[in-house]
Amino acid sequence: MTRSRFEKIAFTGLGALLASAIVLGVTHVAVAQAPADATYKGMNLCVLCHKVKHPVIAEAFPKTAHPKALRTPDEEGAIVAKFDEDSPVSKADIAYILGVGKRKQAYIGKDGKTLPGQWDVKNSKWIRQEVVDGMTQCVPCHVTGMDMKTKAWNEKGITCESCHGAGSAHATTGDKTKINNPKTLTPERSAMLCGQCHARGTTLDGTMPRSMTYKFGDDLSKHIKLAEVKGPAANQQYNEWLGSKHATSGVTCTGCHDIHGPGSANPGQLKKAEKELCSGCHAADLATPEHPKLTDAMKCGLCHMPQGTHTFKMPGQ
Ligand code: HEC
Ligand code: HEC
Ligand code: HEC
Ligand code: HEC
Ligand code: HEC
Ligand code: HEC
Ligand code: HEC
Repeated sequence: MTRSRFEKIAFTGLGALLASAIVLGVTHVAVAQAPADATYKGMNLCVLCHKVKHPVIAEAFPKTAHPKALRTPDEEGAIVAKFDEDSPVSKADIAYILGVGKRKQAYIGKDGKTLPGQWDVKNSKWIRQEVVDGMTQCVPCHVTGMDMKTKAWNEKGITCESCHGAGSAHATTGDKTKINNPKTLTPERSAMLCGQCHARGTTLDGTMPRSMTYKFGDDLSKHIKLAEVKGPAANQQYNEWLGSKHATSGVTCTGCHDIHGPGSANPGQLKKAEKELCSGCHAADLATPEHPKLTDAMKCGLCHMPQGTHTFKMPGQ
């Protein structure tokens, strides 16, 4: 079997990097932090090196929903909606596609505004989409490395550097102190990393739905005023979770979700299948005579996460 050219580069590069990492290791112990002047390099480069050291991450992450959060019509199969003469959206007008299309899919036209229809996947029908400036109101949470001055971004979708920070300083050296590792965050700050996008709210000046000043490790509440949870709605997992006993017990988003494998292939990217995951921590609660007996088909979320809500309330609460 012959290795591809790219793999050869990765292997030789890694050899040299690992040698320098040993030297760095004895002289320099620091908290991983991407330097402020680092630039975005893109997922392909991260995958190129990491398929050697973290084959599961490199293999699994590109298949998840995150990198497909924004696509263009030239990508095969990206548009999941069906069109006819009554559709509120014409296929030819689509410039960008928002959402991989698990539940919904929305579209942005060539003028940067959202097109007036959203595709409801489950019910296979069009629903209303408010026409807003997609470049400021939608795209910032669906791409990596957004520059609000030029309204340009480095990479479509949520890729490695959305969570790990701009990677130029790390990717040219392999120095692990020059990249952000969420494992170094407290549970509270780790959830904030996800909450920068998985929350409803506005910037403190009220102009944007996502803060562009928030940086890895920051206190999100200094950048975003969170909206109150008024009932089940999309994209407010962080708002909901904050009010749950999981938040006060340090069970964060990554306590249940696996960002990049091997569990990321499970429904909802859960670390384990739902029942196994929840029972792992709640065996004693389930064994009480008060707890309803469960059939195989009953998932925990049926009663404790109605409509996917992350407040983890008790039934009836
Ligand atoms: C030239 C090869 C190379 C490239 C390109 C590269 N990495 Fe790394 N990365 C490494 C090496 C080597 C390590 C250290 C692995 C170890 O010893 O655990 C590492 C470690 C990491 C870590 C763990 C840091 C820690 O605290 O342990 C993260 C996160 C990471 N890389 C993310 C990325 C991202 C994101 C990109 C793309 C911007 C990227 N890497 C590109 C080689 C590379
Ligand atoms: C930069 C914005 C951003 C950040 C940061 C972010 N996400 Fe996401 N996430 C999204 C978007 C946008 C989607 C929708 C992808 C789609 O379906 O097209 C998504 C989808 C998901 C999904 C898939 C849900 C499904 O449909 O199955 C999970 C799970 C998830 N995110 C968890 C997390 C966790 C946990 C973190 C923190 C470690 C995180 N996300 C950080 C923007 C973000
Ligand atoms: C949505 C946020 C998010 C994205 C996107 C993301 N990661 Fe991560 N990554 C995390 C989190 C959170 C952790 C900490 C481990 C955990 O809690 O699961 C992590 C940990 C890591 C580690 C350290 C693993 C270890 O064992 O210490 C590496 C390496 C890494 N990621 C590489 C990547 C690469 C390469 C990509 C893109 C192909 C990527 N990540 C995309 C959130 C993300
Ligand atoms: C604050 C960040 C943020 C903003 C702003 C944002 N989104 Fe999202 N979007 C997300 C996250 C996170 C998800 C995944 C979680 C969910 O669906 O509950 C998502 C999911 C979606 C999905 C569903 C994807 C799927 O696979 O089912 C669609 C469609 C969507 N967004 C369209 C839009 C549109 C249209 C706008 C602008 C009007 C917008 N988004 C603005 C963060 C954001
Ligand atoms: C105690 C476990 C647990 C915690 C903590 C948790 N989730 Fe979830 N999450 C789930 C389960 C279970 C589902 C449903 C999975 C499915 O689709 O089958 C889910 C679904 C999701 C989805 C898919 C859309 C939806 O609403 O159904 C997103 C996005 C998500 N979670 C993001 C997050 C984020 C962000 C956090 C942290 C603020 C978080 N989750 C914390 C268990 C958890
Ligand atoms: C990593 C361990 C862990 C996982 C995984 C986990 N939980 Fe929890 N859960 C906790 C802890 C700790 C508490 C708080 C304990 C307490 O207050 O009694 C809690 C609290 C709860 C509560 C609130 C109980 C109350 O008295 O209000 C519910 C409901 C719940 N969990 C359901 C779930 C469900 C459903 C899942 C799977 C989607 C899940 N948990 C996954 C650790 C976990
Ligand atoms: C058919 C609905 C239903 C399903 C499905 C369900 N529960 Fe419950 N759960 C309840 C009810 C009702 C209670 C309150 C019982 C009581 O008084 O202790 C409860 C209580 C709990 C509590 C709180 C116990 C306490 O004393 O604080 C936890 C934790 C919990 N369930 C976890 C789970 C987990 C994990 C699963 C999945 C394996 C699950 N539940 C599935 C209905 C359900």
